[in-house]
Amino acid sequence: MRNRKLQPSVAFEAAENAGSNPTTAPTMGDLIAERLSRRDLIQGLAAVSVAAELAWPRALAAAPAESKARDAASSFGFAELTVSPGSPTHHVAEGYEAHVLIRWGDPVLPDAPPFVPNRADAAAQARQFGYNNDFVGFLPLDGRDDHGLLVVNHEYTNSELMFSGLATRGDRDANFASLTREMVDTEMMAHGGAVIEVRRENGRWHVVPASNYARRITAETEMVLSGPAAGHDRMKTSDDPTGTRVRGMLNNCAGGLTPWDTWLTCEENINGYFWNKAAAEPLTAEARALRRYGAPAEWYAWGRFHDRFDVTKEPNEPNRFGWVVEIDPFDPTSTPIKRTALGRFKHEGAGNIVNRDGRFVIYQGDDEAFDYVYRFVTDGKVDPTNKDANRNLLDNGVLSVARFHADGTGEWLPLVHGRPNKDGQVWLTEANGFQDQGDVLIHTRLAADLLGPTKMDRPEDIDVNPTTGKVYLALTGNLKRTEERMDAANPRAENAFGHIIEIAPDGSDHAADTFTWDILIKCGSPQIAEVGATFNPATSDNGWFGMPDNFAVDADGRLWVTTDGNSPRKTNRADGVWSIETEGPERGTSRCFFQVPVGAEMCGPCFTPDLETFFVAVQHPGETEIGGDVISTFDSPTTRWPDFENGTPPRPAIVAITRKGGGKIGG
Ligand code: FEO
Ligand code: CA
Ligand code: CA
Ligand code: CA
Repeated sequence: MRNRKLQPSVAFEAAENAGSNPTTAPTMGDLIAERLSRRDLIQGLAAVSVAAELAWPRALAAAPAESKARDAASSFGFAELTVSPGSPTHHVAEGYEAHVLIRWGDPVLPDAPPFVPNRADAAAQARQFGYNNDFVGFLPLDGRDDHGLLVVNHEYTNSELMFSGLATRGDRDANFASLTREMVDTEMMAHGGAVIEVRRENGRWHVVPASNYARRITAETEMVLSGPAAGHDRMKTSDDPTGTRVRGMLNNCAGGLTPWDTWLTCEENINGYFWNKAAAEPLTAEARALRRYGAPAEWYAWGRFHDRFDVTKEPNEPNRFGWVVEIDPFDPTSTPIKRTALGRFKHEGAGNIVNRDGRFVIYQGDDEAFDYVYRFVTDGKVDPTNKDANRNLLDNGVLSVARFHADGTGEWLPLVHGRPNKDGQVWLTEANGFQDQGDVLIHTRLAADLLGPTKMDRPEDIDVNPTTGKVYLALTGNLKRTEERMDAANPRAENAFGHIIEIAPDGSDHAADTFTWDILIKCGSPQIAEVGATFNPATSDNGWFGMPDNFAVDADGRLWVTTDGNSPRKTNRADGVWSIETEGPERGTSRCFFQVPVGAEMCGPCFTPDLETFFVAVQHPGETEIGGDVISTFDSPTTRWPDFENGTPPRPAIVAITRKGGGKIGG
C-alpha cells in the first residue's frame, strides 16, 4: 500500500500517529518534485501537466521503447524501457509480452458469477478475485514450471473506484454516507487473498477454471491464533472468549513462501479498519498502545455496520490483527493460522531463508515512518524431507529488532520477556507494562521502543538473496525525517525517494547477533544535486526510480525492485519494475523493465523457477491524486485499464510477463 495519504483516510489520519505528518508546509521533497516538474516542462520532455494528468489522452499510451545493446558488463540482457510519466496502460521492455491473467471480479471458485460493473454483491465477490492484488507467490504443481498455484494477497479496496456515485475519499464523510451495507460487505469480501491454479499452454498463461485448489480468503474467513499470544486476555472478545479464533485477515500487503509450501501473508495497515477515536482518550495504557499502532484511524465505513470494528464495543479486536498468517494453499479446507510469535505490527512482507544450521529465518519490515526492521529465528530446524513436520515451526522462536550503528555494523536486539540484554539490563518486565511474552508480541512496537532500535524511513520488503546470502531492505521514504533525526542508515532529511540497504549477516549466519550493512542506492533523480541520489553513473535516465517497495530475487540471484509512489509530479515516471546490479563494477546500476498504468503501484514480483515467467501485480490502477486530493472515481476514472470499456472501472489485475519466442526473463 502506498503511504497513508492515499488511504481512504486522506485528511483524517491521526496526528499522533508516529508516521503521520501534521504539517502542511511544503517539504524539501515537494520542492524537489516541483523543481523536477518545472525543469522537465522547460526542457520540453514528456512531463504531464495537471490538465493532462486529469484527462490522460490516449495519445500518451504509446510510450516508445528504446532499443539498447547489451552492455558487456551487465548481467541483464534486455533493452531498457523508455520511461513514460504515466499512461492509461502498461508497458514492458521490447521483446517481451505482458498479458493480463486475472482481474478484480473474475471468477475464482467454480460457482462464481461473472463480473458485473457497479454491482455491490458480497456473495458474488466472495467467489471472485479480490481487489488490490499485492503479494504474488508461485508454487509449482508436480514440479512443473508451466503449471502451479498462484497465491495472491488482496490488500485493500478503493470504494470510489468500485462503485458509482461515491464521493472521493478526500471527502470521507460524504463517501461513508453513500456506502450501503452491501457495498461495505462487498469490500470485506474483496479483502484477504486468493489461491488460483494457473497453467501455461501454447505460450500463454491462463487460470484453470473450476480448480479443486481454488480458494478465496476474506475479512470473514475463520482463522486461528497460535503461538505465545494465543488465548491471551488481550485477545479475548465477546465473539471469541477463548482468544484463539479470529474472523478474517486485513490489509495483507506483501508476504513470502516457505520451503514446506505454505504461504505467509502479512497484515499491514490494520489501524484503518477500526472506529471510534474517543477510545484513544483518556491516555490509559490501552489507549497508548492503540495510538502507537495509529488506531482507530477510521479509514473504512465497516464500523457503521459491524460492531467488532468499533473499539469502544470490542476493545481487543484490533489486537487480533497485525499478524503474519500462514496458509496451506494445497488444502483448500485448511484453517489459516495467525502466527503470533512473529510479532504484531504493520507487516510488509516475510522474506526468508533456511539458515545454514537448519533454522528458519524470516526478515520483516514494519512499514511506518520511524518504525523498525525485525527478524524471527525459529527454535526448531526445517525438516526438508517431511513437510508436515514443519507445521508448527513458526510458533517457537526469537523475534529481534535491528539497530544500525554508524560504523556500518549492526545488531539484533531480542524481544524476549524477562531476558537481560548484553549489558545485563532487563527491559521487558511487568514494571514496564509487559506481564508475559504475549504482551511483548501483542504490543511489539511498544516493546521494541524500550530496546533502542533504529527508527527507519518506512521499511517495506526485506528479502534474502540465497545466492549471495545478502539481505536487501527497501526503505520507501520518510518526509518527516529532519536533519536533527538523521542517522547513518537513514542519511537524508525529508527522504522523498527512499533508499535500499544491503545487509550481510556476520559469518553468513542469518541467526547471528550482528551484521554489517551498506547503502546500495539512495533513490531519486541523479540529475538534481539536492536529491543526493547514488545510482551507478552507468544508470540511464530511464534507469533511476524512487520509492522502492517490493523485491524479487531471480533464480540467477539477480535483484528486481518494484516501486510505489512515482508519478509525473514526483519523478516524471510511473511506478514499475527495475532490475538492479548488486555485484561488480555495475553495482548500483538499474534498468526499467515494466511500467504500470496511471495511478497504479507495482507489487507482487514473482518468477517461475525456470525464470521464463514474471508475474507482477498492478494495484489500484486509476488511484490518482492531484495535490493531495484523490480525483479519480468510478464515474470519471483516470484510466479504464485493462478493459477500456465505457462503464467498466479500472480493475487491479495480475500480469504474466514472458519473452517473445521463449527464454529467460532479463536475458
Ligand atoms: Fe502495503 Fe508497505 O505497503
Ligand atoms: Ca500495496
Ligand atoms: Ca508494499
Ligand atoms: Ca508501499
